Amino acid sequence: ATSIPADDRVPDMGKRQLMNLLLLGAIALPSGGMLLPYTYFFVPPGSGGAGGGTVAKDALGNDVIAEEWLKNHGPGDRTLTQGLKGDPTYLVVENDRTLATYGINAVCTHLGCVVPWNTAENKFICPCHGSQYNNQGRVVRGPAPLSLALAHADIDDGKVVFVPWVETDFRTGENPWWS
Ligand code: FES
Repeated sequence: ATSIPADDRVPDMGKRQLMNLLLLGAIALPSGGMLLPYTYFFVPPGSGGAGGGTVAKDALGNDVIAEEWLKNHGPGDRTLTQGLKGDPTYLVVENDRTLATYGINAVCTHLGCVVPWNTAENKFICPCHGSQYNNQGRVVRGPAPLSLALAHADIDDGKVVFVPWVETDFRTGENPWWS
């Protein structure tokens, strides 16, 4: 990209960003995040509240407002948002119509396809090679070797904020492979 004149590059990136909003997560990291995409996970949790996380973005790139989200997403809903490092991340609505305190990273642990939610099967089923994950993202069928990554889904000032999950994976009782 360095060989492309800046005048051409900027509008081109704009188009790509729109098209790839959820799949590539090319935009909307918090200020400074663009410079530190790979060190982001190493920010100690709890260091400055939202400063250790990133506001979830909906499909249009807008901040996710928890109350609004719950008006439009019913119990059991799992819908993609843009999460940490721009990764596509499911927000989960619990059966009591509250937001789950965790988000599920949609990137398949096999070869990285984005895994869709299958309401009828109550599972995430990867279209690439058939891996399956339960409704919390725990792997239940290979070839995926690991469960989907977690992020904390906090609510800060009414907005959903993802914070890196560094604690024990509550689904497996193991240390998180992703942190
Ligand atoms: Fe999901 Fe291979 S990438 S099963």
